[in-house]
Amino acid sequence: MDKLEDLISEARVAFDSATEIAQLEQVKARFLGKSGALAQLRKGLASLSPEERPKAGARFNDVKGSIEQLLGDRRDAIQAKALAARLEQEKIDVTMPGRDRASGGLHPVTRTLERVTTLFRSMGFDVADGPEIETDFYNFTALNQPADHPARSMHDTFYLEGEQHLLRTHTSPIQIHYMEQHRPPVRVIAPGRVYRVDSDATHSPMFHQLEGLWVDQTATFSDLKGVVREFLRNFFEIEDLEVRFRPSYFPFTEPSAEIDMTFKDGWLEIGGCGMVHPQVLRNVEIDPEQFQGFAFGMGLDRLAMLRYGVNDLRLFFDGDLRFLRQFA
Ligand code: DAH
Repeated sequence: MDKLEDLISEARVAFDSATEIAQLEQVKARFLGKSGALAQLRKGLASLSPEERPKAGARFNDVKGSIEQLLGDRRDAIQAKALAARLEQEKIDVTMPGRDRASGGLHPVTRTLERVTTLFRSMGFDVADGPEIETDFYNFTALNQPADHPARSMHDTFYLEGEQHLLRTHTSPIQIHYMEQHRPPVRVIAPGRVYRVDSDATHSPMFHQLEGLWVDQTATFSDLKGVVREFLRNFFEIEDLEVRFRPSYFPFTEPSAEIDMTFKDGWLEIGGCGMVHPQVLRNVEIDPEQFQGFAFGMGLDRLAMLRYGVNDLRLFFDGDLRFLRQFA
């Protein structure tokens, strides 16, 4: 019997010495395993007399129960300790300041662009795109501006090496691309970046334009005036905004006009426009006897400057966050 008592204390010491579950399982085998101490003792029961056997068997079961109890307690203790350690390690300090998540914002020119496209879409215009690197043909020739045309000197162009390609100086070439792809009726706007050798407070070598084109069988100059006026009034949310069409010259329109709008005490030029020149239609194989229409081009950055009250165009492109954050 003493041997059994000893076994219990031996197990307690052994279990207590284990500090991790894996270790404990190994120790367990020594006592409760198939060839462990208890299994050996059970074999001994067989050699007892039938009279001795029940008592010894009950005693054996008690001891086995005690050892199992010790094992379970130790297992619980080890797990509780591990959990406590983990909780300690992963403790969250709710008083710590939060991690700042920077929130982005749209650039004022992007906002302007989105507003412009929404307004024109509501008037039934499609929105088109075109390449920023153009050929001489799309930027000039197809727009009725042949190589020796004096109007070409109006643009100080960035030519690419070899002079076969250039950075488009206006969004008007998108008119050509679009009409090559779509037959009239055509109603489209095309916003985009354009490039000219120019730089001061109101000119940047890269700026944004908005092109508009409407070609069908009946589009007139009155329609042009109506569309432009309607757009500008909606864009600036000024119901009585006045728009003036001042005679001008562009090679791809005839007649042509500058678009001025009322601003402060005077007039401000906002773009150019006119009736699409018959030659431009012929260049894209549209019969000018059958179709006619109008086009216009405006400075998107100019629209953004006016809407937000910005007086220096360069602020838009300097990337100064102190400026840009005001629009976010
Ligand atoms: N492309 C012209 C420029 O950059 C602007 C322009 C004028 C566009 C008249 C047009 C137009 O579509 O009809 O100066």
